[in-house]
Amino acid sequence: MPDTLLVGYASQSGSTEEVAEFIALNLAEHGYMIDLLSVNYIRKLTGYRLIVLGAPLYYSHLHRDMRRFLKAHQSELTVTPVAFYALGPVHKTDEEYNGAKNQLAKELAKLNWFKPFDVQLFTGMIDPAKLGFPYKLIPRIRELEMTDERNWDQISAWVESLAKKLENDIF
Ligand SMILES: Cc1cc2nc3c(=O)[nH]c(=O)nc-3n(C[C@H](O)[C@H](O)[C@H](O)COP(=O)(O)O)c2cc1C
Repeated sequence: MPDTLLVGYASQSGSTEEVAEFIALNLAEHGYMIDLLSVNYIRKLTGYRLIVLGAPLYYSHLHRDMRRFLKAHQSELTVTPVAFYALGPVHKTDEEYNGAKNQLAKELAKLNWFKPFDVQLFTGMIDPAKLGFPYKLIPRIRELEMTDERNWDQISAWVESLAKKLENDIF
């Protein structure tokens, strides 16, 4: 029976969900069973060899669904190895990337019990047509250009590094 891995995500307009699907597919290709779920539908955290969690940054904070999930599952999340990623900057500038990196570091620092063995920040995507309430009501945001800066090669390289760690039992 292959090991089962959990790939959980929070997502407002779908780009992090697509990254989670990509991660799940790539890990499945290594022979693992995968549970792919929005954090809002995760009911149990036991029985997994690895948990991969991802969320976008919004207004300097991790998406509220992820914050809620982490708060609710504190004790279980200290038992299983967790790899964590965030999606954020939508322009490939050092300034934006470093700003998002600081935001992520501050968010994780608030959770002093949470010790993922790997944390990544990936560039994200904005599609104004997919923004839900309340963002679509804000003209400045509604008028943003569609930008997809997700770097699939970088995400794929990260998944391969996770698979290698699983293979060698290194966490
Ligand atoms: C209203 C709004 C606020 C955002 N705020 C931030 C931010 O503070 N920091 C950041 O790095 N990215 C920010 N982003 C970029 C999002 O993290 C990025 O678009 C991400 O890919 C969205 O993920 P989702 O499609 O899964 O919701 C923001 C995007 C929007 C639309």
